[in-house]
Amino acid sequence: MENRKTVVIGVTGGIAVYKALDVISKLKKENIEVHVIMTKAAIEFVNPISFQSLSQNIVIHDMFEEPKAWEIQHIVLAKKADLFVIVPATANVIGKVANGIADDMLTTTIMATKAPVIFAPAMNVNMYNNPILQSNIQKLKEFGYNFINPTSGRLACGDIGEGKLAQTEDIFEIIMSNLYSIKDMIGTKVLVTAGPTIAPIDPVRYITNRSSGKMGYAIAREARDRGAVVTLISGPCNEKVPIGVSIIRINTNEEMRAAVLNNYEDTNIVIKAAAVSDYKPKVYSNNKIKKSENGLNLEFIRDNDILKELGLHKKNQILVGFAAESNDLLQNAKGKLLKKNLDYIVANDITKADIGFGTDENKVIILSKDNDPIAIDKMSKKQIARELFNLINKKR
Ligand SMILES: Cc1cc2nc3c(=O)[nH]c(=O)nc-3n(C[C@H](O)[C@H](O)[C@H](O)COP(=O)(O)O)c2cc1C
Repeated sequence: MENRKTVVIGVTGGIAVYKALDVISKLKKENIEVHVIMTKAAIEFVNPISFQSLSQNIVIHDMFEEPKAWEIQHIVLAKKADLFVIVPATANVIGKVANGIADDMLTTTIMATKAPVIFAPAMNVNMYNNPILQSNIQKLKEFGYNFINPTSGRLACGDIGEGKLAQTEDIFEIIMSNLYSIKDMIGTKVLVTAGPTIAPIDPVRYITNRSSGKMGYAIAREARDRGAVVTLISGPCNEKVPIGVSIIRINTNEEMRAAVLNNYEDTNIVIKAAAVSDYKPKVYSNNKIKKSENGLNLEFIRDNDILKELGLHKKNQILVGFAAESNDLLQNAKGKLLKKNLDYIVANDITKADIGFGTDENKVIILSKDNDPIAIDKMSKKQIARELFNLINKKR
């Protein structure tokens, strides 16, 4: 990674304190400089020595402690931070910052910093749902503070509900994205489709295709990293939904069509990376088709061509399609681009085993209406997504 970044981690007094250690460990592996400020309550849960060892820096907690250097610690850290992350964030710290209270080292430094600040709240479900806390969160959001929403689950107190600290890998991912991504899509609404669809034959059988969803999920993640508001419509696949992305799960072509059309109107960029079934059985059997000694003939009919429909009804949206081809790649992709009124088409050759379906890498050619095709070398699907948005954003 390019220049070394500094992250200040604020640790407050919740049961999830120990999880902040994992976030710090992940950041150190990326050679990020980490400074930790703990509240008095946090120290009741975990000894600062653990944070000191992992961050490889003195942990600061006492505002009036004998200074270790001539500098005023809270101002130094406030200036040094590229990013401030409060993990876990108690209801108390959120309330204090929202109301301008700076009565300890952490809240004073948050008040003094110009760096982006992210809170990762963790608390009991009733505390989280308390309207006072929700109003404090809202107020902070309006002032430009960011939040990594807690998840639902079994909480340390035994209650079940929202309030569980987001997974440490998600917190890490958001930190990295804030540190290193170009934020050139703030406020842009992006709709991404990913994965396969299924065409049911009877209650137990269906046909589908080999799409893993990896490309679409990488596109959604990249758009999220650049500040876009992302909705991901996904067929059945095993990919992890990027935190901060709204997910709509579908199974069939028809469900995909309904979800896409529902969201099309107020979307700025639509990227159709899903491998939607072209055909479905002419007749769906409500009962399981019995096994017999004879073979089985199924007649298939064309299913909806969603991309074509989007092209027909396009207003100001930028419409991007994918062409997975096994022959005449460029010719077929160009034909699809024009026929479906697309702005871009990403063509990939699916005959190569190390790229395309199910793999982490891809090698594509991006075609557009007005420019020569651009060949993108073999690289990770996330990097391909980056190249795609670089191109789209240059023209917007
Ligand atoms: C065992 C225990 C667990 C707690 N867990 C949480 C928690 O998960 N979230 C929270 O907001 N407060 C929790 N609290 C309450 C806070 O510690 C308390 O509000 C404290 O004043 C927070 O101080 P701080 O925000 O300065 O760290 C817990 C308290 C105890 C004793």
